[in-house]
Amino acid sequence: MLAKESVTHNASSDISNRHLLILYGSQTGCAQDIAERIYRQARRRHFKVRVYPMDDYERANLINERLVIFICSTTGQGDEPSNMRKFWKYLLRKNLPNDILNQMKFAVFGLGDSSYVRYNWPAKKLFKRLLQLGARNILPRGDGDDQHYLGIDGALDPWLKNLWEIIMEIYPLPPNLEVLSDDILLPARFRVEFIDQKFDENKEKTNDDEVYARLVKNERVTAHDHFQDVRHIELDIDGAELRYAPGDVAVIRPKNLSEEVNEFIKMMNLSDIADDAFILIPNDEDHKIPPHWNFPLTLRKLFENYLDIFSTPRRSFFEFLKFFVTNEDHIEKLKEFCSAEGQDDLYAYNQRVRRTIDEVLQDFSSANISLEYIFDMFPEMQPRQFSISSSLKAHPGRIHLTVAIVKYKTKLQKPREGVCTKWLSGLVPDECFIPISISRGTMGLPASTSTPIILIGPGTGVSVMRAFLEERIYEGATENYLFFGCRNQDRDYYYKDQWKQYIDAGQLRVFVAFSRDQDKKVYVQDILKENAQLIWDIMHEREGYIYISGRSDKMPTDVMNAFKDIFMSEGGMNEVDAEKYIKTLEMKRRYQQEVW
Ligand code: 2AM
Repeated sequence: MLAKESVTHNASSDISNRHLLILYGSQTGCAQDIAERIYRQARRRHFKVRVYPMDDYERANLINERLVIFICSTTGQGDEPSNMRKFWKYLLRKNLPNDILNQMKFAVFGLGDSSYVRYNWPAKKLFKRLLQLGARNILPRGDGDDQHYLGIDGALDPWLKNLWEIIMEIYPLPPNLEVLSDDILLPARFRVEFIDQKFDENKEKTNDDEVYARLVKNERVTAHDHFQDVRHIELDIDGAELRYAPGDVAVIRPKNLSEEVNEFIKMMNLSDIADDAFILIPNDEDHKIPPHWNFPLTLRKLFENYLDIFSTPRRSFFEFLKFFVTNEDHIEKLKEFCSAEGQDDLYAYNQRVRRTIDEVLQDFSSANISLEYIFDMFPEMQPRQFSISSSLKAHPGRIHLTVAIVKYKTKLQKPREGVCTKWLSGLVPDECFIPISISRGTMGLPASTSTPIILIGPGTGVSVMRAFLEERIYEGATENYLFFGCRNQDRDYYYKDQWKQYIDAGQLRVFVAFSRDQDKKVYVQDILKENAQLIWDIMHEREGYIYISGRSDKMPTDVMNAFKDIFMSEGGMNEVDAEKYIKTLEMKRRYQQEVW
């Protein structure tokens, strides 16, 4: 941490020096929201501020930056979010001199979940690397934790308070200027200018790699009386420049349902202008329009395609909303929600019951939000990732997905549906097109087809395993061992006919744990242990590979413990050796997992 003396030593009261850069790595939009909140706080303190996803920032300029705040979330098991990967790779370059960032003062706040082993790894690694490159931290790293009873805000609020105290010591305001109060509404990021032009459907892409894939199959693969609706979805990408390897992930940009958007538009009293085209103009030279909004839009398209109006609002939403309500009770309530003392109440009202923006606006019905503030208040629709369940070699021009339709009840006992899977579930084959791009996966097959593989994929975790199997079997491999888990033999044992063909051809062995076909629950880890000798032989004698995919709650740990038991009983190891053995397998990429 920077010594106090050097803080005051660097002090300057010249306002033209007040430049701040905020860089974020965000997977679900939460880090972006925090970055934008800091942007507003900095504006109130008379800083000129730029905010970018790390990968969109011109990296060559980094050596000239004096003050940078990094907000960095965690994805997967402790990985960097996709919009900071290039930036991170650049920072890791060996040829960067150790003092290259010696002009920079920085702060890092990480977002993660402390129930994961690699809690906040990207932020921790980033913090360390910036120090190595000569940059100086102005305060200790902040670690936001989803497990905190107030969520990320539990650690963020005190960290931000500290941050601003330190920054204002380094950059004190000249006597004629004051910090602008929270009761003053800052200008919106963009202005809206209606134009005499049509909305062009062809331009609505979020990135250059995205294509529109025709839906060719959307089949329920679980029994109709089963609690869960799982779909086998097939997309036609023939002719598109879209390639994928087994293990890769489909990135799908969902849409809100047009009927629901229509209701929302009515509630917002926007029906008259919902289909008029407009363009956005930045209100501030430092704020660029994101490329996917840099063309004529309409409000209807914006709500259908780009804004997540059925998500749970973040705190900044309420901070804006308080400026737009007129009813006295609403004003009071929102003031309370935005105060430090009101945080528990806001959490109980909002996050705990996962209230949506739509519902909040129904509660605060006196709100009349100015159009241009929509872009500051409503979060952007985030693309969703699904493991691809096919091999391109086995199905040229096609992508298959295995998708569980998300339905759950909140603490209000209201049924809820996931935005993306609700939209997918209603799409009709041959009539619908899906915006899709590919992201590289983290798991990969061994080089040789004669290396045996053990695949553990209960539920929709089997999706990536199917891609592996199709690829391997296409290439002639026969040493394939699948451990699948589902509730019932005749309700959710999907792809069994395909497995049967492989089994009959001598290309696959399948072991299934039906958890609810008998009184006692049986899981994949139980049937692994039943086959301990086979597993030990595959791993020890034949240098096999293990792959695990599925929901992240307890399964990956339970499965790892089963392997530990197997290595102890069959390999004669003690617990410490068995753990070391698994660590070595992981290092050699012979033990890979992808969980969500
Ligand atoms: P259950 O729902 O009957 O508890 C796919 O979801 C399968 O994974 C189901 O059979 C489910 O069983 C099972 N499952 C649930 N928790 C698990 C765990 N911790 N380890 C392995 N399998 C689990």
